[in-house]
Amino acid sequence: MNTPYPFQFTLPYPDLIPSHYDHHIQRRLSALKGQFFDQESYAAMLAREDTLLYEVYEVSRPHLPGELLSGISILHPGKVGREFFMTKGHFHAVLETAEIYYCLKGEGFMVMENPQGETSVEPLCPGRVLYVPPAWAHRSVCTSRQQDLVTFFAYPGNAGHDYGTIEKQGFAKLVVEGESGIEIIDNPRWNK
Ligand code: F6R
Ligand code: ZN
Repeated sequence: MNTPYPFQFTLPYPDLIPSHYDHHIQRRLSALKGQFFDQESYAAMLAREDTLLYEVYEVSRPHLPGELLSGISILHPGKVGREFFMTKGHFHAVLETAEIYYCLKGEGFMVMENPQGETSVEPLCPGRVLYVPPAWAHRSVCTSRQQDLVTFFAYPGNAGHDYGTIEKQGFAKLVVEGESGIEIIDNPRWNK
């Protein structure tokens, strides 16, 4: 991993799993305890199966400011009650670090907010590049009915992750299936 030389990898279609990666992380329903607003549906679903929600293939580098960590995030389609499957979401531990996402497959949103309470929910579809500025927490949401939401990401090696803040307060905005399609609503349980 510590090669001082340039390196390449490919993202072969159709699965887009990197030809080289260092970590494969799988996150299941149980990892998002307290995050889906319909807690009854969450408990019922979890009692049936600890469903796999998403996977991350990470190409690791030393955790240094001059390095970039990159990889692929694959978020599977599905809902808990009316709320679409989503990632845990996080601030970076070094708050002033940004991230770039490039959407390769599927449809969805990036839900974001900053410590000042400003929010932004940006659509993701193939070919779109999304810039997450420093200090903005981010969570991806898959709204495709059948397809995975697949994104390539890159962020500074020293960024780290703060999951605890979001675990406590959630995000201010939720992405749900409404009467007439996809809706972005205020989180009734959001407390800051
Ligand atoms: C890294 C980053 C992505 C996410 C991935 C899974 O800073 O934003 O690689 O880590 O989409 O989401 P989390 O980490 O929130 O479970
Ligand atoms: Zn991040």
